[in-house]
Amino acid sequence: MRSTKAIIDLSAIQHNLKMVKQFAPKTQVMAVVKADAYGHGIVKVSQQIPESDAIAVACMDEAITLRNAGIQNEIILLEGFFSQNELRQVLEYNLQTVIHQESQLNDLIQISELKTKPKKLTLWLKVDSGMNRLGFELKEFSRVYHQLKNLPWVDSINLMSHLACADDINNPLTQSQVKRFNEITQLLDEPKSMANSAGVVAWPETHFNWVRPGIILYGCSPMIGLTGEHHQLKPAMTLQSKLFSIKQLNVGDTVGYGASWQAKQPTRIGVIAIGYGDGYPRHAKEGTPVLINGKLYPLVGKVSMDMITVDLGMQDEVALGTEAILWGKGLPVETVAQHADTIAYTLLCGVTSRVRFEWLDV
Ligand SMILES: Cc1ncc(COP(=O)(O)O)c(C=O)c1O
Repeated sequence: MRSTKAIIDLSAIQHNLKMVKQFAPKTQVMAVVKADAYGHGIVKVSQQIPESDAIAVACMDEAITLRNAGIQNEIILLEGFFSQNELRQVLEYNLQTVIHQESQLNDLIQISELKTKPKKLTLWLKVDSGMNRLGFELKEFSRVYHQLKNLPWVDSINLMSHLACADDINNPLTQSQVKRFNEITQLLDEPKSMANSAGVVAWPETHFNWVRPGIILYGCSPMIGLTGEHHQLKPAMTLQSKLFSIKQLNVGDTVGYGASWQAKQPTRIGVIAIGYGDGYPRHAKEGTPVLINGKLYPLVGKVSMDMITVDLGMQDEVALGTEAILWGKGLPVETVAQHADTIAYTLLCGVTSRVRFEWLDV
């Protein structure tokens, strides 16, 4: 059998959540599990983090998946509801929702179910502090806040904003976003939230009452140029496969599609059963490391749909069937992402359904 696997270490996620609590000891934690928990399995991950104070998802389908799996934590819809029908589902599934634009406010005012049923809603009012993607602006904020406050079916309002450049410790936008968020919200005694993972590890002034970590839960550094190890995080996903063929090459022989790599000396090429059809990045450059028997070998030639090729050299004994780690324990996914001109998020989210997933219980 083709032995391409993603092994998810659920205890690593628990460890990483503990680290979040060390970074931000005075705040509550909203664990971000959208996009199938960044590719780690939304239900399995959510079942293992009951100590998170809430769980955040991007959309209604994700929230319903969690409720149907019996997850009882508070669930927050980070992009809010997309229609009146979804607002009805917010009530039905006992969810909390972000409000980031006027149409959502209008739905909240108009929907008749809210007038007839005594249900109370917890809202997250989103402020645009400078990302210019979602959220109300300074000039609208006070009116919207008071309109919501006056609705009898609104129980509580939290105030939130999102950081655009917190992964870059030298970017001045973060301070300016904090300043703007404070200016807009300072007179209001409501719980506040700004920090994503980068805010958690690098910007204590963004911690406020709630932090919203995503990528650090899965063991990656959110900061440019760093890996999770730097923050004592443990990688949750190990993507691995096996070496299933070895080719002997002479000087001048080429490898793979486009014959893009040429041997400068006699060598052996190891063929590993993973490719872009499994989510390994097609754009991984020559030299991207692959971990075999505790040693890093360079990717050579183009990534194919089902295979990659590495230069094993002539020295080491590497038997057919030997395990190869593409990322995870011993080889940070951030490093592979860098070699593929992308970010760890896309690699973790992009592992395809052809790969067998195994969850190691806590
Ligand atoms: C509103 C919001 N908060 C928090 C996060 C978590 O971000 P990160 O994975 O960088 O911690 C996200 C993810 O994109 C988000 O959209």
